[in-house]
Amino acid sequence: MDRLNIIGGAELNGRIPVSGAKNSALKLMVACLLTDEPITLTNMPSLADTRFLAQLLETLGVEVYWPKGESTCHLNAAELKSTIAPYEQVRKMRASFNVLGPLIARSGHATVSLPGGCAIGARPVDLHLQALEAMGADLKVEQGYVKAAAIQGLKGAHIVFSMPSVGATEHAMLTATLASGETILENAAREPEIEDLADCLNKMGAKITGAGTSTIRVQGVEKLHGTTHAVMPDRIEAGTYAMAAAAAGGDVTLDGCPVEALGAMIAKLREAGVTVDADEAAQTLRIRRNGTRLKAVNVSTQPHPGFPTDLQAQFMALMSVADGTSIIRETIFENRFMHAPELQRLGANILVRGQEAVVKGVPHLTGAPVMATDLRASVSLVIAGLAAEGETVVNRIYHLDRGFERLEAKLNACGANIKRLSGEDE
Ligand code: EPZ
Repeated sequence: MDRLNIIGGAELNGRIPVSGAKNSALKLMVACLLTDEPITLTNMPSLADTRFLAQLLETLGVEVYWPKGESTCHLNAAELKSTIAPYEQVRKMRASFNVLGPLIARSGHATVSLPGGCAIGARPVDLHLQALEAMGADLKVEQGYVKAAAIQGLKGAHIVFSMPSVGATEHAMLTATLASGETILENAAREPEIEDLADCLNKMGAKITGAGTSTIRVQGVEKLHGTTHAVMPDRIEAGTYAMAAAAAGGDVTLDGCPVEALGAMIAKLREAGVTVDADEAAQTLRIRRNGTRLKAVNVSTQPHPGFPTDLQAQFMALMSVADGTSIIRETIFENRFMHAPELQRLGANILVRGQEAVVKGVPHLTGAPVMATDLRASVSLVIAGLAAEGETVVNRIYHLDRGFERLEAKLNACGANIKRLSGEDE
């Protein structure tokens, strides 16, 4: 297993290019199942998760042409050879479950493994299943698999989600494009990745309005066609590097940054005393901190446009070295504080009480060996390691490779001192 060795204490200065968004790319890839014509995705992030989904799509019969090191991925689902998504493939990555609706829409039936829980919480799929049933799918759960059929075809439905779920909104929207009649999704999630998916689907001939708001309307069409689409930039990756710069100090500009999608985070960084220059037109975000200590601020994670749960761990790392006490509330997932004990190994003072973490800022963190537990938790340890004195070793970084493209290279280009080591955990 690879690990990262970080020598902390260096300021970050320079520019970091933002990659394509993992959480958008995954759903855009699934969209290829809705047409027998080729889909080309550009600005694709080459990550463990996107490569892994490409393998699942190949199992289903999609021709994938995506050479290593390239950011353009060609997908062609001219003919599907299977409508079964096996446990081994869906278990590892939850976004794979979103093939269910598109497979039913395309083939009339599908068998897809339930994704199961994961480290950050139970993460059920009830809202996904309710939406598909409302559209006329007949669903049975047997031996851990959802067996689905829609003999009469799928039909439009009026679906009111009991809570805004990103995955369920996207799943319902993908499926509704080929259902007969109109589908209305209410209390839909409003994350920017949903708008990106709707833009691509509309280019494929879908009729979707309202994506990015809490009411989405989809007028079903008979057929979708091929297109080319550029994956939106990754707001979570951008937010992560912004916090890395704030933690380490220095002057970093993020290029190709989805500034408009980061409003809540930018407000919190400014409240904490970080100088942030946001230029929407140029899509750049400049982050500066010149030696003055950060102020502790409270944060509560919320669905978009609130503060994203996917930046909570990184913000906790930042608050670990702020002046004062910060209360961090996690309202989206029930078990997303696993980074707290690891940050404590670096000297952070954090008390977790249910959904809240009370972070008493300390003047300095000191390097130590730590363990990555999930994707965003791992990168919070990298941020803390950059701010800490001495050497931090982050073990089990396969989590990081699921969602951060060329992390060491991007940070080292700004003066960080990070090395990837292979072999046993420390
Ligand atoms: C997406 O997960 C992201 N993943 C997550 O990013 C992100 O944290 C999350 O949205 C919230 O922004 C991808 O896009 C691949 P949800 P998703 O459905 O769609 C509950 C990362 O690190 N819920 O919006 O699975 C659920 O348990 C990952 O990149 C139900 O109860 O999130 C959670 O409490 C982690 N029933 C809440 O809704 C359902 O059927 C929000 O989850 C579905 C969800």
